Formats: sequence, structure tokens, C-alpha cells
Amino acid sequence: MGAFAWLKTWSLLIVIAAASSFDSDETSNRRNLLGNGLASTPPMGWNSWNHFNCMIDEKIIKQTADALVATGLAKLGYNYVNIDDCWAELNRDSKGVLVPKKSTFPSGMKALSDYVHTKGLKLGIYSDAGFYTCSKKMPGSLGHEEIDAKSFASWGIDYLKYDNCNNGGIRPTLRYPVMTRALINAGRPIFFSLCEWGDLHPALWGYTVGNSWRTTNDISDTWDSMISRADQNEVYADYARPGGWNDPDMLEVGNGGMSKNECIVHFSIWAISKAPLLIGCDVRNISKDTMEIIANKEVIALNQDKLGVQAKKVRMEGDWEVWSGPLSQYRIAVLLLNRGPVRTEITAHWDDIGIAPTTSVQARDLWEHKTLNTRFTGNLTATIDSHGCKLFVLKLVS
Ligand code: GLA
Repeated sequence: MGAFAWLKTWSLLIVIAAASSFDSDETSNRRNLLGNGLASTPPMGWNSWNHFNCMIDEKIIKQTADALVATGLAKLGYNYVNIDDCWAELNRDSKGVLVPKKSTFPSGMKALSDYVHTKGLKLGIYSDAGFYTCSKKMPGSLGHEEIDAKSFASWGIDYLKYDNCNNGGIRPTLRYPVMTRALINAGRPIFFSLCEWGDLHPALWGYTVGNSWRTTNDISDTWDSMISRADQNEVYADYARPGGWNDPDMLEVGNGGMSKNECIVHFSIWAISKAPLLIGCDVRNISKDTMEIIANKEVIALNQDKLGVQAKKVRMEGDWEVWSGPLSQYRIAVLLLNRGPVRTEITAHWDDIGIAPTTSVQARDLWEHKTLNTRFTGNLTATIDSHGCKLFVLKLVS
């Protein structure tokens, strides 16, 4: 049987298994066929693409690992150090194995993962479910899934981002599960991040195949790009759960294109949406303002809440929105968001967020780090700056 016949057979088996699991009870609905036990909460870490693009080398990766530890970000949970596109030579070796680029990764990936692991961190790598990666500067894994997954496992890789370029027009539901199977065969638990850009609604099938799935095209460092990714991702809220998450793309906080308020909105939405928190700036030179945002323990805790439910928009009126979702211990997360050009009052009504009308609530403001003195009944109103937000955790008191 040729490589493509195998590819189709395995994919078919996986997709059939996935489909039948959706027909049965709630327990099997939640089955992630990858079964790697990872992603009980959204992944946290760093990725090279948003800041460095193809200009990466092993020195930057090592220094980033050092910086994650030195800044305290590693302790807060940012533990994946993910290398994106452009790390390999254009040609495989005589045995068909991917070769780390000699000029930029001369020590090889095993040495790099050893280094990153001694820091208590994990190493991520990138490949593509196509013939070439998106940069076209290295080969993709289509047709080489088994050998590549084995290489990644033998190098000590912990996370694979798997892109969608140059794929010969083959459906993603045929291409992605082949790598799932190869990762299972390779025997190392590797977080599997599907970077399918939302083309064929990966939220509908991603849970059976991987641990996260991109729901959008690439983010760029502007308010419009960021907020439109948040909107596209929100539509799929019901499909995120422990083991597999919607991914609206990596963070742009700290890259300079958005104001501080806008970066707070960006981080708040990603947190409440249970999105992967993958820092996309240069953590070796990080500003105080950026640290204040990405190192906010209370917002991180909201993202990492055990219940793992993605928040949704519960009210939209002109330029303002209320987003909300349940948290563990009967708490509720609420985001008041002002998308417009002027400061405005925004109200969260209890009947929008699933609280009985007479229930009183204590509100914790996660950016002010303050529990408000007022007890709120029926609704909560706050005045919000243009392109700003408030993020609360509500606790029912009586
Ligand atoms: C695609 C992905 C990006 C990045 C680049 C690398 O565009 O969506 O996140 O990985 O490829 O070339």
C-alpha cells in the first residue's frame, strides 16, 4: 500500500471513531483520541513567530528559556518554549530525516531540548501538514509523518505546532489525523497544536485529533486584527474543554502595535476564552508594562481554571459587549468591553450571565487587584475607557 493509501486508511479510521464517539454518551464525547493526558488547562509558554519570524537561532531559543526563568514568567506557568517555522534545512538527509539548519541550530534539537529541560521548561517545534512549510524554507511532514514524529520524540520535543500550507488540496480531516497516529506511535506525550486556521471548522473535529486548533487566520499586531480574531474564536466556545482548546492565535502583547489598554483587552479576552497563552514578544527585553499584563496572576488563574469553560458574549449593544462564563466553585467570570472611541457605561445583567435576580454578589476586579466594597444585586455597572475593559470574578454571597 502506498503512502497516500495508508494516510487515507488511518484518517478514515480516526474520523469514523471520532464520529461514533459523538453519537454516544457524554463520557466518550470527551475522548481525545491522542490520549496524551496533556492540556487539562490551556497551554502557556512562548513562540518565536510573532516577533522573530524566520530570524531565529539556537542562541535566541536558549536566551528566551533563560529569560522566562529570570523574569519569573516560567514560575507563573509559561513553560513551553516553541520554535516556529524556519528551523530546518530545505532538504532531508539520505534517510529522509529532517535536519536542523546547520547555520542557525548547529548543536541540533536534542542538545536544545536538554538545555530547555534543565531549566524546568519544555521544547516545542513546528512542522506542516503539507509538502513545504508556509515560509517554503523547510519541508513539511505530509507523507513523512511517522519518521518526523519519531525524530521529534527522540529529540525530546514536547509540543508540535502543525501548519496547513502547501497541502496539495487534500482535506485537513485526512491530513491531520495521520500525524495524530504517528505521535501516538512515537510513544512520547507531545502536545499537538493544529494550525489549520479555521478553514474547515477544526473546532468540530479537532478534539479527537489534537490538543488545540487554530480558529482563525494569522493575528497581526493591531487592534482590528486582534479583536476580529477574538470574535471569530468566540463562535466556537462550546467546543473547547479540558484536553482540547480553541486557539485564536498567539499573543501580540509587548510587540508595540497596541496601546496598554488594548493589550489588557487582548490578554483578558484570551484568558476568559481559555485560549493558549503563548507570549509572542522578545522576553529577553521585556518592558514593565508588558510584564504587568502577562504576569497578572489573577488573570492567568482565570485562564487556567479547572472547569475549563470558554466564556461567550452574552450581550452586545453598539460598541459595547459583555462576555461571561462559569468558573469552578460557582464563580463567574465577566468581561465588560468597550470597542468604541468614547468612554462609556456598561452593565452586566444577572439574567444575561445566569445568576438569579435576587442573588447578591461580591466582585473582584482582576486588573485593579481589588474586591469591591459594594455587594451587587441584579446587575453590575462600570465606566469603561475606549478600547478598554474591566474583568471581574463574581462570587455568589446570598
Ligand atoms: C502560518 C501560521 C503562522 C506561522 C507561519 C510560519 O502562517 O499560521 O502562525 O507559523 O505560518 O510560516
